[in-house]
Amino acid sequence: MEKFVICGGKSLCGTVSVSGSKNAALPILAASILSGGRVVLDNIPRLSDVVSMCDILSSIGCGVSFSAGDRVLIDATRLNSNVISYQLAGRLRGSFLVMGPLLARLGSVSISMPGGCPIGARPIDLHIKGLAALGACIENRQGSVVAKAKKLVGTKIYLDFPSVGATENIMSAAVLAEGATVIENAAVEPEIVDLANFLCAMGANIFGAGTDTIKIEGVKILKPANYSVISDRIEAGSYLIAAAATGGCVTVQNILPDYVKPLTAKMKEMGIPLDIGENYIAVNSEGNFHAVDIKTLPFPGFPTDMQAQMTALLALSEGTGIITETIFENRFMHASELARMGASIKVAGRSAVVEGKKALTGAKVKATDLRAGAALVIAGLAARGDTEISDIYHIDRGYVALEQKLTQLGADIHREAEH
Ligand code: EPZ
Repeated sequence: MEKFVICGGKSLCGTVSVSGSKNAALPILAASILSGGRVVLDNIPRLSDVVSMCDILSSIGCGVSFSAGDRVLIDATRLNSNVISYQLAGRLRGSFLVMGPLLARLGSVSISMPGGCPIGARPIDLHIKGLAALGACIENRQGSVVAKAKKLVGTKIYLDFPSVGATENIMSAAVLAEGATVIENAAVEPEIVDLANFLCAMGANIFGAGTDTIKIEGVKILKPANYSVISDRIEAGSYLIAAAATGGCVTVQNILPDYVKPLTAKMKEMGIPLDIGENYIAVNSEGNFHAVDIKTLPFPGFPTDMQAQMTALLALSEGTGIITETIFENRFMHASELARMGASIKVAGRSAVVEGKKALTGAKVKATDLRAGAALVIAGLAARGDTEISDIYHIDRGYVALEQKLTQLGADIHREAEH
């Protein structure tokens, strides 16, 4: 096990480039199964979740090779299994995104229940409802979901909640269904659009991705394609918040500002000076900003994946802010760890009241999940004194070369073995 050791109190300064999006790369890697050939994917971030997804693809017979830079080659010509083990599926939530493509390609799949951040129950009922509507027979067998379908037939599917994963799974199955499928109340996140663009590059007919109604006209076959995934809006937002929290001046490059508008709008409300260009956002903060209220919502609302990081920023703001987490029922685990650094956060159900402080103090803390870990890094960078963050394997799931990128911005952070 490893930990980060951070000597806080240094303002971040300089330019950082955002890597490819984890949450775009995972569904696109899973959908490469549909190609029946060799797919070349670029801007794939070298993250542990991506490696886990590639291990899953290898386990069913795909050839997987990482080449220079962030390129991954997936050869899905010959699949030799339709079973995803607990050992592999349990590593990440995204493993379940293989269900739709495998069902469409092979007509049957058995996949163990997914793993992922312990931020809530994370049911899969909407995935099941959608795939069953397309004609799959689905049952739970000793902790695995077993789905069979002689043929998938297009239909109209209404999602009770605009689930990102369910939208992705249903879309990736419907592309090879007979006839048209309409997903209503679909998720509209940028990662949905990226997946739809990849599927269309392979010859799928998809209309309306990015809106709450997506129409998919099934085709007989998809062909291999080359594709480059979008950059990671959550990584970008994490660096913007770290820059503000440390009173720094940082330019975050290689990001479409529209992807992070929910965050930049709130940062402006807080009085944090931003310069927003075509593909960069620059923060130039003196470290003084006032609290605001935050409510997480599906895109284009404030992203739940930025909630923990924003909690850390509010802990350093002037005044009191209230955070309401409407997406996941257990996503305040960072509050008690931030409290060890002097933050004043009162959690009640889905809300947290954050009373801002002039400064936090370094402490020994533990990452409980991916974004909570990011929040602790941000707090440690801003705090006075040293902070040690253990269980940083959570953070490695979603941030490429975090300590290297932060060091380039002037942070004093390094990785050590945890004894
Ligand atoms: C994706 O998770 C992301 N993960 C999450 O990012 C992100 O927080 C989430 O979307 C919301 O934006 C990946 O893309 C790999 P959901 P997903 O299905 O698909 C309920 C990170 O930090 N729901 O939109 O699992 C569910 O309980 C991770 O990078 C059902 O009720 O999210 C939750 O309350 C964390 N039934 C809400 O919908 C279902 O069948 C949102 O879930 C599915 C979901």
